[in-house]
Amino acid sequence: MSIHISAKPGDIADKILLPGDPLRAKFIAENFLEDAVCFNEVRNMFGYTGTYKGHRVSVMGTGMGMPSISIYAHELITEYDVKKLIRVGTAGSLNKDVHVRELVLAQAAATNSKIINIDWPEYDLPQIADFDLLDKAYHIAKDLNLTTHVGNVLSSDSFYSPKLFSRNLELGQLGVKAVEMEAAALYYLGAKFGVQTLAIMTISDSLVNPEEDTTAEERQNTFTDMMKVGLETLIAD
Ligand code: HPA
Repeated sequence: MSIHISAKPGDIADKILLPGDPLRAKFIAENFLEDAVCFNEVRNMFGYTGTYKGHRVSVMGTGMGMPSISIYAHELITEYDVKKLIRVGTAGSLNKDVHVRELVLAQAAATNSKIINIDWPEYDLPQIADFDLLDKAYHIAKDLNLTTHVGNVLSSDSFYSPKLFSRNLELGQLGVKAVEMEAAALYYLGAKFGVQTLAIMTISDSLVNPEEDTTAEERQNTFTDMMKVGLETLIAD
C-alpha cells in the first residue's frame, strides 16, 4: 500500500502503460491484456496487471496534469519498483505539419510548470525520454505504418489560458510538435529515480489547424494504435 495506491507489493508489473483516463486503463486491460486483475480503485484511478503476449504488464490511469501524474509515478517507482513507464495520451498540435490522428513521440518536453524548478531552482534541466524506449517505439510505430513525429512537446500547467495561446503557437514555430500536460514531470521522475520513461501522444486537436477534428470512432481507432505501440515497446527486448 502506498498513500494513493492500494496494491500489495508484487501486484504491479515492472512495466506499466499510463493513460490519463482511468477508464482508458480499464479499456486497455479489457482489450489487450489477458487475465487482468484490478489492483487499485482508490479515487477510481483504476490500475490492472495482466499479460500481453506472455509478458507481465500493468496499466493505470494518472489523472490530468503534472501534479497528478507525479504522485502516481513517484509511488509506482519508489513503492512498487516499476522500471519502465510509458504515458499514452492526447495532445494538441502546435505545428502545421502535425495533424490530428498522428502520433508524437516526445523526445523531450519543455514546460511552463514549476514542478521541476522546485527541486532545481538554479537550472533549466532538459527533460528527455529514455532513448532506448524512444528508439523502440519509433521503429514499432513505423512498422505499423503510423505517421509518427519525434521531437519536443510542451507540457503545460494550463489547459485554458488565452494568455499562453499565442506564446504556445510561437513555440510551435521553434519546432515544438504539440502541447500536453504530463510528459515533462514523468521524464523528470525517470531521471530522478533512474528508470525508463517515454510519452507517446495521439494528436486529438490542432491549435494551428482548428478545423481539423476527429470523430469519436476515429479517436478510438488511433488511440488503439497508440496503445499497441506502447505495449509492444514495453515488452520489446
Ligand atoms: N492542450 C493541452 N493538453 C492537451 C490539448 C491541448 O490543446 N489537447 C490534448 N491535450
